[in-house]
Amino acid sequence: MKKLLIAVCLIFASTLLLCSNKSAFAAEDVSHGGEIIYTKPLKSVIFSHKVHVEDKGLGCDRCHSGLFEAEALKAQENPDFNMESLYKGKYCGACHDGKTAFASNTQCARCHTGVKGYVASQKGEKAVGKTSFGPKEAITLGQGASAVKFMHESHKLGCSECHSKIFPMKKGESTVTMDAIYKGKYCGACHNGKKAFASEQCIKCHSKVPPPEKSLTYKVKGVGPVNFSHKFHTAAFKCDQCHPKVFAMKKTQGKMTMDAMNNGKFCGSCHNGNMASAVSDCGKCHKS
Ligand code: HEC
Ligand code: HEC
Ligand code: HEC
Ligand code: HEC
Ligand code: HEC
Ligand code: HEC
Ligand code: HEC
Ligand code: HEC
Ligand code: HEC
Repeated sequence: MKKLLIAVCLIFASTLLLCSNKSAFAAEDVSHGGEIIYTKPLKSVIFSHKVHVEDKGLGCDRCHSGLFEAEALKAQENPDFNMESLYKGKYCGACHDGKTAFASNTQCARCHTGVKGYVASQKGEKAVGKTSFGPKEAITLGQGASAVKFMHESHKLGCSECHSKIFPMKKGESTVTMDAIYKGKYCGACHNGKKAFASEQCIKCHSKVPPPEKSLTYKVKGVGPVNFSHKFHTAAFKCDQCHPKVFAMKKTQGKMTMDAMNNGKFCGSCHNGNMASAVSDCGKCHKS
């Protein structure tokens, strides 16, 4: 009987303890996990309990019921403790998704505070050297003959110059076209002849670029259709003799007028009776 009483008391006491523990967990002024500096795969990220618990008022269970163990540096033992997982909504990414908290593909330096080299690279300073951690291997953009190999090594710029306002930090996500590049998007944000070499210099990025196989057809009211043959023209001219100064690298319709051609624009830049047959030779281009 006495034993039982003691047991009941013990249970009661431990329940009390649990309860008080629980309420202590929710209270503001209790101890938490403090500052945690991750060391793998990079020594640079600091997680602050103070910020999350005291300043932002997040309860312990928001993180300690499945997301993180209450043991420092446990997560970094997992091989998938990296940015890709964060972007998929794991670990810090469960909240740092642009809704609950700032997204993991923005404001890199707010989380990566620890490493000098990282901070330097954020400022776009050149001295990234060995501390740069852009992928070493080439990243292939696109498929087939026009595919381009992108080297992080040729771009010793701050990560935030490209990530993530120009490119996501994941390969195979961007659908790049030359038209977009010439409009200042993707590589064209810099390869415009000002910040870096211009995008006319095809072979600096492409090992080869075959022209479209099929002729481009323009249907014109009142006169016969026009077929423009890349096959014919590229036998004599290089891509950059026409792209992008004379023509967009995207088929348009209605943009090239005969008036403009008569003024030496578009086809008229060659079909002027000098370099090639004149624009007045309607039948050369308009087939009936
Ligand atoms: C926003 C998320 C978050 C919240 C909220 C949070 N923690 Fe943590 N806690 C972590 C992370 C992340 C770790 C480290 C886990 C790891 O590295 O694997 C951690 C680790 C700990 C550790 C281990 C510290 C050490 O040095 O080993 C304790 C203890 C802890 N937390 C207690 C608490 C308590 C108590 C609360 C509530 C008052 C709380 N945590 C709220 C994210 C959180
Ligand atoms: C349960 C949700 C949650 C998780 C998980 C979480 N955070 Fe946060 N974090 C927040 C919220 C909410 C804020 C404040 C809102 C904001 O700044 O966008 C914040 C703010 C921050 C800040 C800004 C601190 C400041 O001084 O302004 C940093 C840095 C940060 N978190 C890092 C991390 C890291 C690193 C992890 C993972 C180890 C993590 N967080 C996990 C919710 C979370
Ligand atoms: C919400 C916090 C947070 C933000 C924002 C964040 N990171 Fe991270 N990052 C982490 C954590 C946590 C790890 C894993 C621990 C470590 O390596 O220190 C990590 C690891 C990395 C790694 C090594 C692992 C990997 O994925 O290759 C790189 C590189 C990296 N971050 C780059 C960046 C860049 C660039 C940005 C901005 C576009 C960024 N991070 C933004 C938290 C963050
Ligand atoms: C000049 C632009 C540029 C800069 C600067 C840059 N990157 Fe990238 N990064 C890219 C491009 C382009 C991709 C591929 C995107 C795609 O395929 O959609 C990429 C992809 C990545 C990937 C994903 C690789 C994979 O296998 O999925 C990581 C990680 C990465 N970058 C990290 C970094 C880090 C860290 C820095 C700073 C040291 C950095 N990048 C600086 C352009 C850049
Ligand atoms: C944030 C600006 C920026 C973006 C975006 C950018 N580059 Fe660059 N790139 C540079 C700078 C700066 C240089 C070095 C100066 C130069 O060669 O004109 C460079 C150099 C290069 C080089 C020459 C490397 C060498 O060793 O000679 C190639 C090739 C290249 N970039 C390809 C690309 C491709 C492909 C993309 C898009 C996937 C791209 N760049 C996006 C800024 C950028
Ligand atoms: C700064 C680097 C860069 C330069 C310079 C460059 N390109 Fe590209 N180009 C790319 C990238 C990146 C892609 C996307 C890869 C893919 O989708 O195949 C691309 C795609 C293409 C494509 C297929 C998509 C489309 O828009 O039709 C063609 C064709 C092409 N380039 C031709 C050229 C020609 C011709 C030149 C020179 C007048 C040139 N490129 C100069 C980077 C470059
Ligand atoms: C003699 C001039 C000329 C040369 C040389 C030339 N192109 Fe074009 N290209 C054109 C014209 C014209 C268009 C259509 C423009 C329009 O409709 O506004 C075009 C459009 C394109 C398109 C878009 C096709 C579509 O269906 O949207 C691609 C891709 C292209 N050219 C690639 C190349 C490549 C690669 C080379 C070099 C191997 C090259 N061009 C050389 C004149 C030329
Ligand atoms: C860079 C100079 C150049 C530009 C720009 C150019 N051509 Fe030509 N083109 C030539 C030359 C040179 C010939 C061969 C001489 C001739 O037949 O006049 C030719 C021949 C032709 C022919 C006859 C060969 C064939 O393919 O049947 C047609 C049709 C033609 N061009 C259409 C066009 C059209 C349409 C445009 C504009 C969309 C255009 N060209 C733009 C240089 C050019
Ligand atoms: C060098 C090739 C070429 C020659 C020569 C040429 N055209 Fe055209 N023409 C075109 C092309 C290409 C278009 C359609 C462009 C588009 O739709 O974007 C066009 C469009 C037109 C149009 C509709 C646009 C406008 O400007 O009103 C008319 C009408 C026309 N041509 C009449 C003629 C007549 C008449 C002649 C002879 C005096 C002639 N063209 C000679 C290539 C040529």
